[in-house]
Amino acid sequence: MLHSNLGINEQGHLTFAGQDTVDLAKRFGTALYLLDEERIRANCRRYRKALRENFSADSLPLYASKALSFTGIYRIMAEEGMGVDAVSCGEIYTALKADFPAERIYFHGNNKTDEDIRYAIDHQVGCFIVDNAEELRAISAYAGQKGITQKILVRLTPGIDPHTFAAVNTGKIDSQFGQPIETGQAAAFIREVLVTEHVQLLGYHCHIGSQIFDWVPFRDAAEIVLRFSAQIRDSLGFCAQVLNLGGGFGVRYVEADPPQPDVAAYISQLAQYMRSRCSELNLPLPTVLMEPGRSIVADAGLTLYTVGGVKTIEGYRSYVTVDGGMTDNPRYALYGSPYTVMLANRMNDKADFCCTVAGRCCESGALIQENVMLPRACRGDILAVAVTGAYNFSMASNYNRLCRPGIVMLKDGQANVVVRRQTFADLTACDL
Ligand code: LLP
Repeated sequence: MLHSNLGINEQGHLTFAGQDTVDLAKRFGTALYLLDEERIRANCRRYRKALRENFSADSLPLYASKALSFTGIYRIMAEEGMGVDAVSCGEIYTALKADFPAERIYFHGNNKTDEDIRYAIDHQVGCFIVDNAEELRAISAYAGQKGITQKILVRLTPGIDPHTFAAVNTGKIDSQFGQPIETGQAAAFIREVLVTEHVQLLGYHCHIGSQIFDWVPFRDAAEIVLRFSAQIRDSLGFCAQVLNLGGGFGVRYVEADPPQPDVAAYISQLAQYMRSRCSELNLPLPTVLMEPGRSIVADAGLTLYTVGGVKTIEGYRSYVTVDGGMTDNPRYALYGSPYTVMLANRMNDKADFCCTVAGRCCESGALIQENVMLPRACRGDILAVAVTGAYNFSMASNYNRLCRPGIVMLKDGQANVVVRRQTFADLTACDL
């Protein structure tokens, strides 16, 4: 199977994290998100171990919580000794609600409002990743008012295109994120940072994109940022202690994807490269941070639906409709993302029926997947979509006034609701 937490039991049912998904669908209803807690923890540990073993002991993965944010996930991150990358005060609030230590929160965003800055400083968030001059000045002003020095990293755009989907590609020069190195803007910005009061610059951040299966784009980004670091050391006398390399490695969604990246091997290769370049450039090896989101939670997630009907448009195609859709997984509608779809209650039946899986939203593009092979489905079958742990719940909506599914956490044969399913009352809770 695609990932080792997927299996088939004697009844021919799909298992996830060792549990029968058909039983889970019956017990908790559909649509339903499942999470495999052990897989989340194992994914954290791979990054933690590799960063610690290859770089300084304070090198740390920061969980990019935009991938999946609810209180329980921050508790797991706290227990696993991870840091957190937050992109909004909503994420910071959720993390703090889970007692996640504020000093291990890194606050991102290309437009932090004055309110955001006040909230984060008031709650003693460890580090800001500063995007632009207006933000820098606003942080400095409020930190001064509070009588503190705020730690910061500066976000750089290294000008790299790792050939991923354009909408998730953030490191190239023409980007709304960070300060471009190539145009000289980054160096000018560092000059301003170094004379700005009430902030302490620790080093640099860059993020080149998402769903990257190779270590080479990370090496190229590190090369560019290390050269920049040496240039700043020479021209301004500032030596960066921290380098944050941004998001994590890619994840397999379908059999046709490249093999799952070997995080330990890739980070070790990266460290070897950086060590040799640092010695050539006469730089100390920086503390290295990474911000994996997808590769922490994606393969720890699975979505279950119930099939409502099958409609064959003669001469065209067959639609299988399910009791969810772009509201709980907008990724096909948005990016055309591939997913592995299965009939969870009929895993041993021949998959000889080519179909399009449609959700229940009133919109023709609201599909889960096109041209998948399933056994001929009928009403009441349980349809599973694998690898939905990242960017599904966190991107879910109430379009068509559909209730968001709950999340059930699976661990050691136990299944616990960690986010309850929304009710109709939740839908009108903000309406006055
Ligand atoms: N750090 C920064 C600055 C980022 O912009 C991102 C993702 C990450 C870390 C986490 O990257 P990851 O390890 O998850 O690849 N909604 C899209 C993904 C957008 C990712 C944007 N930034 C999707 O569903 O594919």
